[in-house]
Amino acid sequence: MSDPDLTALQSEFTAALAAAKDGASADRVKSDWLGRTGRLRKLTEELGKLSPDQKKIRGKAINDLKLACEAAAEDRLKALASNGAKAAPADAIDVTLPGTSTKLGRRHPIYQTMDEIREIFAKLGFEAAYGPEIETSYYNFEALNIPLDHPAAEPFDTWYLDDPEVASRPYRFLLRSHTSPAQMHIMEARKPPIRVVVPGKVFRTDPADASHLPVFHQLEGLMVDEGVSFADLKGVLAIAMKELFGAKTETRFRPSYFPFTEPSAEVDVSCVLCAGAGCSACKGSGWIEVLGSGMVHPKVLEYAKIDPEKYSGFAFGMGVERIAMLKLGVPDIRHFIRSHPLFLRQW
Ligand code: DAH
Repeated sequence: MSDPDLTALQSEFTAALAAAKDGASADRVKSDWLGRTGRLRKLTEELGKLSPDQKKIRGKAINDLKLACEAAAEDRLKALASNGAKAAPADAIDVTLPGTSTKLGRRHPIYQTMDEIREIFAKLGFEAAYGPEIETSYYNFEALNIPLDHPAAEPFDTWYLDDPEVASRPYRFLLRSHTSPAQMHIMEARKPPIRVVVPGKVFRTDPADASHLPVFHQLEGLMVDEGVSFADLKGVLAIAMKELFGAKTETRFRPSYFPFTEPSAEVDVSCVLCAGAGCSACKGSGWIEVLGSGMVHPKVLEYAKIDPEKYSGFAFGMGVERIAMLKLGVPDIRHFIRSHPLFLRQW
């Protein structure tokens, strides 16, 4: 098809086809051009005026154009037909759209850690028990052999819920500053043998910094029976720390002081990061302090009306945030409460 007029015609046809936005208009274009009275037919009719040689050349060119236009029209009609099938009415429900996804919630890493510790002690025969978050000064202090006016009470300072001027009771209401008061509730409610762990929230007047929060979590442990010794305390905690931090974990007991235990010990584990070699996490010592413990003070047993001549027990208490920070490698305790949801979704 060399004739320039035919080339122009083909362009015109192509443009008209492209402008047809649905099957009906494309059909109309097709019949306007290729129909019995269409524009290409008219070209054929004009052939009669030409010489036989010219006729041959022109005739072939016109025929080529016709074939090309027919093929283009078919393609366009097919494309419009399949488009039409996809274009649903505006109010149709598109079942192929992805659904609205619901973000699954998960337990906070602190509660995951607490569950894990609770389960480790469950395997050692310790049942979970709970104490109230609102306590009286008796349970938070006196019953644990902490005189209220004694410096030993200071680390356990908390918020009081009543007005001392108005309170006419021999005790005050407060938010518990450790889980140890639960020991007394349990010893009052049941008699030995006792083997419990008490997970829960505790409150202190500490301002928030990298290692303190005014609201945090502890897990208390208590075992009371005939003949319970410091060796039992060491054995139980050594196993529990291996379960918690890994089979190679060593434990170390350092003499310490708590009013409600005698003797008392601070418990360290071999550094979870450097395995005892010394690093910045353990300040080069190879050890990390994880909990307080000791043999239940005879006075505490007496307050609970358990005969200290017959029974003995051990107790321990650990900060759940501290354990979680060590296990998860979180450098600042405040991340647990003010971080982006993506931070928490790591676990
Ligand atoms: N209640 C103590 C605290 O919050 C931790 C503690 C130490 C608990 C020794 C115990 C214990 O049961 O025996 O610092």
